[in-house]
Amino acid sequence: MVEHIPVMLKEVIESLKNVESPQMIVDATLGLGGYAEEILNVFPATLLVGIDRDEQAISLAQKRLVSFAERVHIYNSPFSAIAMVLSKENAEPDGIVFDLGVSNLQLSSPERGFSFQNDGPLDMRMEGTSGESGYSAAQIVNTFSEKELADIFWKYGEERYSRRIATGIVRFREKNGPIQRTFQLVEAIRSSLPAPVQRKMGGHPARKVFQALRIFVNDELQELEKGLQGALESLAPGGVIVVVSYHSLEDRIVKYAMKDWKTSDHGDLLTRRPLKPSEEEVEKNYKARSAKLRAFRKKY
Ligand SMILES: C[S@@+](CC[C@H](N)C(=O)[O-])C[C@H]1O[C@@H](n2cnc3c(N)ncnc32)[C@H](O)[C@@H]1O
Repeated sequence: MVEHIPVMLKEVIESLKNVESPQMIVDATLGLGGYAEEILNVFPATLLVGIDRDEQAISLAQKRLVSFAERVHIYNSPFSAIAMVLSKENAEPDGIVFDLGVSNLQLSSPERGFSFQNDGPLDMRMEGTSGESGYSAAQIVNTFSEKELADIFWKYGEERYSRRIATGIVRFREKNGPIQRTFQLVEAIRSSLPAPVQRKMGGHPARKVFQALRIFVNDELQELEKGLQGALESLAPGGVIVVVSYHSLEDRIVKYAMKDWKTSDHGDLLTRRPLKPSEEEVEKNYKARSAKLRAFRKKY
């Protein structure tokens, strides 16, 4: 059984407690249901609506939440469609939570192709191979031009060696044929960077390229912009939006969306500065190290 340790769970719940007796809370990134289970325990009269674009996650969350079944409605959908999903419910939510990025289930399943640490087919689609999300990571790596690849690595991975790596990948595929597996991509990246550069990079040399491809394949930044907008529109007056992000590209979008909402008088920031996990949490769960939580309360 795959485990995903929920990040900043205590802080997420505290933020939701800004609403008195919530009728409905939406977990827009249900994942393995870690937040959802705690929400159902802490708010015993609340309906939980869970959304995820990953079918595998949905079926595991459904099993986990079976004892709460009469208070749980689950939808397999990207959160950019949150307004449409919620139009199937009869009420407006009092809280909406986003816990961005990938789950441990996705990262630790080699056949999903998200991880540079496991060998598997280079896929990375959160919807799975049967989804409609367009290109897999392999299609991008094998068919995009050197310039297009460099732009993706720079824009979505902030990889300073983006050009060198793109050149290396194109050379690698010309010489060896299509790159089909995660470890082949790692090899192509390593072969484009001299050893001293790799040592200077701090962290795995493939980390940022894998992040960039994952964001591009799943259109994650546009999803986030649309998801936040849909959440604000769907939320009940006085309701709260809580977002946990894991890298600066995500956090920037959340920060400016909430600032904009405040400027246009939609409500107030509950977090002037983002909350960060405690040292104790980071010690126990390395994935939490980059987390930032921002929360906003819609006006009555
Ligand atoms: C970090 S995990 C959430 C973990 C969850 N909070 C828990 O405690 O188990 C993120 C989840 O969000 C989903 N996800 C990411 N982007 C999404 C999107 N645009 N629409 C719907 N689900 C998305 C992923 O499939 C993944 O299952």
